[in-house]
Amino acid sequence: MYIWPAMKSLRYLNKFIFKYKFKMFWGVVFIALSNWLSIFPAQIFRNVLDAILESVDLINLFKGSSSEDIVKNLFISSAIWFAVGLFAFAIARGIFVFFMRQTIIMVSRYIEYDLKNEIYAQYQRLDISFYKNNNTGDIMNRISEDVSNVRMYLGPAIMYFINIVILFILVVITMLNINVELSMYVLLPLPVLTILVYLVSRKMTKLSGEVQDQLSTIYNTTQESFAGIRVIKAYTKEKSTVKHFNEEAELYKEKALKLAMADSMFNPLIFLLPVFSTILTVFVGGMEVIKGNITYGNIAEFVIYINLLTWPVASLGWITSLTQKAIASQKRINQFLNEVPKIQNNSSEPFHMEGSIEFRNVSFTYPESGIKALQNVSFIVPNKTSLAIMGKTGAGKSTIAQLLTRMYDPDSGEILIDGKNIKNINLHDLRKQTGIVPQEVFLFSDTIEGNIAFGSFSGGELSSAEKELVKKAAEEADIHNNIMSFPNQYETIVGERGITLSGGQKQRVSIARGLLKDPKILIFDDCLSAVDTETEEKILNNLKNATAGKSTVIISHRVSSVKNCKQIIVLDHGVIVERGNHEELMKHKGFYFELYEQQLSEDEK
Ligand SMILES: Nc1ncnc2c1ncn2[C@@H]1O[C@H](COP(=O)(O)OP(=O)(O)OP(=O)(O)O)[C@@H](O)[C@H]1O
Ligand SMILES: [Mg+2]
Repeated sequence: MYIWPAMKSLRYLNKFIFKYKFKMFWGVVFIALSNWLSIFPAQIFRNVLDAILESVDLINLFKGSSSEDIVKNLFISSAIWFAVGLFAFAIARGIFVFFMRQTIIMVSRYIEYDLKNEIYAQYQRLDISFYKNNNTGDIMNRISEDVSNVRMYLGPAIMYFINIVILFILVVITMLNINVELSMYVLLPLPVLTILVYLVSRKMTKLSGEVQDQLSTIYNTTQESFAGIRVIKAYTKEKSTVKHFNEEAELYKEKALKLAMADSMFNPLIFLLPVFSTILTVFVGGMEVIKGNITYGNIAEFVIYINLLTWPVASLGWITSLTQKAIASQKRINQFLNEVPKIQNNSSEPFHMEGSIEFRNVSFTYPESGIKALQNVSFIVPNKTSLAIMGKTGAGKSTIAQLLTRMYDPDSGEILIDGKNIKNINLHDLRKQTGIVPQEVFLFSDTIEGNIAFGSFSGGELSSAEKELVKKAAEEADIHNNIMSFPNQYETIVGERGITLSGGQKQRVSIARGLLKDPKILIFDDCLSAVDTETEEKILNNLKNATAGKSTVIISHRVSSVKNCKQIIVLDHGVIVERGNHEELMKHKGFYFELYEQQLSEDEK
């Protein structure tokens, strides 16, 4: 068991244990008290047994004489004392066991809570590239599976370990005091029990890990089929989806059965081994009684001690395997907590944005895919003006938006806002004052109002002034009328638990969210793609007022969306190939001109 060197990964938990040191201390005291009390019944039992044997001798001696009743009564009264004593100790011990669990197990729950919060805060701190490099299941495991393994160590493992140590010391001292030779024989089989239980637990841990993995595969398969149910039905793939699920479930069943098998072997093992100790007690103990070294009662007392020790000694193997699991989990947690976000906030100074943007020779390659998304891109957006970005799909348009909000940092070149490199701008203020309406709309399982207000107000119930602002933003995004036609209007729940909005409705809720935030720089990433040209026109008109006094970046595939922008750039494979305003680009007769001609004729059709 190479457990000790590996224990150092658990050192991280010391700070939590220290935090709850008083509770822990009392926990240990209660463990000691409850164990101490568990020794006494065995001694009472020995005394009673010896008393019975003596009484039997006495009764036989006084048979028929007048004293027979006195002797019988003596016996009965000592039996009553035995009952009362046993009962009292059981109750007292029960009380201490209750407090032991109430302290140690509670501490483990407190630490679990602290650790989960710490991990969740780290989730939020880490940047986009971390999420691109790790899959959801793995990330989820840190906060669920791994924390629960660590809790099992902090609670049950530590509690039973201290329990065993104290009990062992108490019982062994008591046994040695009675008879050294007998104690040695009786204790001999116990280490074998520990090792066997450890081996079985280790096997079970491995199997239960496999069961867990298969379970998460099933979970992922199921979840994906729910998310993609429309595609599955449209392509009539229900049958093969069911077949696929069956295969995964079959695998799960096989693994679970193996685990059940190992589990079934566990208990018989624990019942079997103490039998050796008991047999040895009777044999060796009998000899000692004959020699006159101990009494009959001592044999009974020893049998009780063996039973007292069996479970704890067996659980030592279980504790070892729990601890190993916790070590592996805590190692992963430590690694995760030590993960440093690539995007660092380099300034704590407050930053008040005006809104001018400059890209200076910016090049960027996605680290995950090695795709060169931008090459030597330079442009200037003066304060309170608009920039349009056009270009074929995959040209690098959204990448510009990502870099501007510092989801990634460029490989070379500089991005400046108000003449200051964004790397040196307080990250919180940068993101607070830039608004992005992303290409892929995401709505939370919340009310429409909550979704629009997301990121603008600090949460909780909105004031009536805030509600008014939400409504205004919804009007500007031309979604207010739609919302009013829903049964619960602004209180309508959307997302997974609620009603399904159409693609265009979602985009407009998302636009309203961006407008409400009222940032200095507003980026619209292809967010009118799902609305018809008439609605688009309406929204663009509204936006003119809403975005007055802001710098705007409009990414679009439609000439109609961008033709009024002060400056238009066309990207191709990450390179700017055309730039100018509408008239200039029309004269240039390049990509923009062709797109215009094509879309004009489509509209005329
Ligand atoms: N997170 C990412 N990781 C790796 N590669 C990416 C990532 N996002 C985009 N890319 C790649 O970078 C290139 C530019 O992508 P980008 O999203 O900027 O294109 P786009 O111009 O916005 O396209 P579209 O008009 O389809 O939205 C593409 O080749 C794309 O595959
Ligand atoms: Mg895009």
